[in-house]
Amino acid sequence: MPSSIKLAAVSDVPLNQSKCFRTAAGTIALFHQPDGFYALDDACPHRDGPLSEGPVKDGAVACPWHQWLFRLKDGVCTNIPGPKVKTYPVQIIKDEIWITL
Ligand code: FES
Repeated sequence: MPSSIKLAAVSDVPLNQSKCFRTAAGTIALFHQPDGFYALDDACPHRDGPLSEGPVKDGAVACPWHQWLFRLKDGVCTNIPGPKVKTYPVQIIKDEIWITL
């Protein structure tokens, strides 16, 4: 059964920035983009690079270690066939950011 956890207040992650949060489900990277918030596992599936520290361009984050690109909306790697990072649905409830595990 899915459960939800509060990650942060909306004001904690300004537009076009990202931040990682340690949770009971692991470390989650949260990205604030012009079209909303996106939550992904922070650990890159290649060698655990911190995705929350990577730049975002055209809806994808580049892992800061070896530049694999992951689409924020579904976690699919767009420059290496096969890898994918887990994503989490995000809801904004009264200025708080919640994700569904
Ligand atoms: S650790 Fe992310 S691309 Fe290598």
